[in-house]
Amino acid sequence: MAVVTNIQDLRAIAMRKVPRAIFHYADRGSYDETTLAANRADLAAIGLRQRVMIDVSDRSTATTLIGEKVALPLAIAPTGLTGLFHGDGEIHGCRAAQAAGIPFTLSTMSICSIEDVAGAVDKPFWFQLYVMRDRKFSESLVERAKAAKCSALVLTLDLQIQGQRHNDIKNGLAVPPKLTLANALDIATKPRWIASVLMGRRHSFGNLAVRQESDSLSTLSQWIAGQFDPSLSWKDVEWVRSIWPGKLILKGILDVEDAKIAAQTGADAIVVSNHGGRQLDGAVSTIKALPRIVDAIGGGKSEIWFDGGVQSGQDILKARALGAKGCMMGKAFLWSLAAGGQAGVAQAIEIIRKELDVSMALTGTRDIEQVDRSVLEL
Ligand SMILES: Cc1cc2nc3c(=O)[nH]c(=O)nc-3n(C[C@H](O)[C@H](O)[C@H](O)COP(=O)(O)O)c2cc1C
Repeated sequence: MAVVTNIQDLRAIAMRKVPRAIFHYADRGSYDETTLAANRADLAAIGLRQRVMIDVSDRSTATTLIGEKVALPLAIAPTGLTGLFHGDGEIHGCRAAQAAGIPFTLSTMSICSIEDVAGAVDKPFWFQLYVMRDRKFSESLVERAKAAKCSALVLTLDLQIQGQRHNDIKNGLAVPPKLTLANALDIATKPRWIASVLMGRRHSFGNLAVRQESDSLSTLSQWIAGQFDPSLSWKDVEWVRSIWPGKLILKGILDVEDAKIAAQTGADAIVVSNHGGRQLDGAVSTIKALPRIVDAIGGGKSEIWFDGGVQSGQDILKARALGAKGCMMGKAFLWSLAAGGQAGVAQAIEIIRKELDVSMALTGTRDIEQVDRSVLEL
């Protein structure tokens, strides 16, 4: 097997290992993918400032995120369908994250349920909530997250309606995977995925299983499409606040005006995010939006986090320099999971931790807490 030295190597392995429809689901963005590309391009365009002859022998990437100690300022972002990238993928991802000392977020749209993951790990994880039309069902998800002792609720705000991803339509992506002729021919070339996922126990949305009144695939997907609620408003955020007394993270803020309102809710953190370029194509890249939001609401109660294009330690250093307390990663997590299960995710986190550590040293920074705009070549 090829030597893996960076996240792109894991992506290349993932491409070989999982069916095209699943790989594209993670890899691609909405419409013309301009925002998807901008997330990466704008991060890459930021320079770091090389410093020399500063004693950097004793370094630390450790910090806190909403009061939880973390080995580096990184958390696994919530991703739907994770268990289709590797059998029991959410459990593998959570175990790897916890062993590496970073938080794991379980998506509402996960394949393993809240209870599956809670039963397989011994530390708390975070749960991501989509508020659905059926508020009673949303409330029941919150109750399940409480019962599973989740230590934070990540409320996603940027998916009242879904942006179109052309590839998901062209590939006939369905949950559970649909065996069209084209898909079957493709899947036949992925024996390890067949063994891990198709022959595994879980193929459908674990948290929504209770809602599945029929085993018809289209019925379930229709039900899900019908559940995303375009009428959501800040009142619903207040409602979630009232039923979830624990740590609350608001994810999907890109605009300064929205950031100001989000900060007024008293949320513990807000995540500057455009859903990884999967929603509004044409929206600003997250790294461009980050400093505007930090200037507007930085220093308040809510920590400001960042996601979108995080694929290296250098990316984290840049985001941190521009005021992000923490970062989340979505695609890089899924590629590493598809490439090697729990070991793959552990490897990805370690690659990124080392890149962050070395890049800090080369900018003359000993402690992640010291990182500010002075490490950037602006
Ligand atoms: C395949 C995939 C599925 C996702 N599913 C969810 C989800 O269920 N809930 C959510 O809040 N965000 C979801 N996201 C968005 C991520 O949480 C995160 O915002 C985004 O992936 C960050 O960008 P990155 O992929 O460039 O790291 C998903 C992202 C991807 C790539």
